[in-house]
Amino acid sequence: MGKLDGRVVIVTGGARGQGEQEARLFVAEGARVVVGDVLDEQGEALAKELGHERARYVHLDVGEEADWAAAVTATKDAFGAVDGLVNNAGILRFNELVKTPLEEFERIVRVNQTGVFLGIKATAPEIAAAGGGSIVNTASYAGMTGMAYIGAYSATKHAVIGLTRVAALELAKRHIRVNAICPGAIDTAMSNPAHLDPDADVAKASRGLDALYRKLVPLGRVGRAEEVARLALFLTAAEDSAYITGQPFVIDGGWLAGVSTL
Ligand SMILES: NC(=O)c1ccc[n+]([C@@H]2O[C@H](COP(=O)([O-])OP(=O)(O)OC[C@H]3O[C@@H](n4cnc5c(N)ncnc54)[C@H](O)[C@@H]3O)[C@@H](O)[C@H]2O)c1
Repeated sequence: MGKLDGRVVIVTGGARGQGEQEARLFVAEGARVVVGDVLDEQGEALAKELGHERARYVHLDVGEEADWAAAVTATKDAFGAVDGLVNNAGILRFNELVKTPLEEFERIVRVNQTGVFLGIKATAPEIAAAGGGSIVNTASYAGMTGMAYIGAYSATKHAVIGLTRVAALELAKRHIRVNAICPGAIDTAMSNPAHLDPDADVAKASRGLDALYRKLVPLGRVGRAEEVARLALFLTAAEDSAYITGQPFVIDGGWLAGVSTL
């Protein structure tokens, strides 16, 4: 018995990184998964590897409302219903706030914040029609505290936590739980560009990240996408988290716990 037997879950930004690990774990736990992303080649390859009975890929730019409508239709056509969503897609840009061009700020809002809003809007009626389910929104450590040079990103991640709380209040009566994940530094392409370079030594780059976070993070290393996927599974699986909604869950190796002089 898998924890997600019979469930049908859309995972955005599922072609790589945390979303990919969430898709893999959810399928391993019995779900049928629709991977949505703008990285068509990688998304198609992942769905093929996971198998046609268990996974499909759809092109889904989370900032496009029409893409959401098409993704929901494709999911119902493939697997009959939608009863889970992981709003995982996100982008990060480094810039000093006062030097951030409006266009860059709006691009980050469009993916990280509008994308989450549109995802909730498009899927909630379907999840309700399926009898209830779950929505997990990926916020960030930077949605719980300020962080210099990622002002636009941090603002959107704070907004994701706000959307999570409001959606949880409004959707509880339709048996939809809504929670947020707040990862610290996780070893994906977003924090470790070596993942994007076919010639790079990823293990070496990961060791470099561990060294960087040894002092910053109490648990002394960068986090792994598989660890975040475990939290997404916990918040999606009704048997584990049936009485939990409207909450942000920090997964950061203790980074946010406070200032340490140890
Ligand atoms: N890696 C970290 O350190 C870290 C920390 C905190 C939060 N996060 C958040 O975790 C989530 C996953 O990021 P990741 O670490 O796996 O990084 P990643 O860059 O590997 O994955 C992000 C995915 O989102 C997809 N994406 C980007 N724009 C999109 C769009 N418009 N529509 C659909 N998909 C789109 C990308 O193609 C990619 O597959 C993001 O929301 C990110 O902000 C990451």
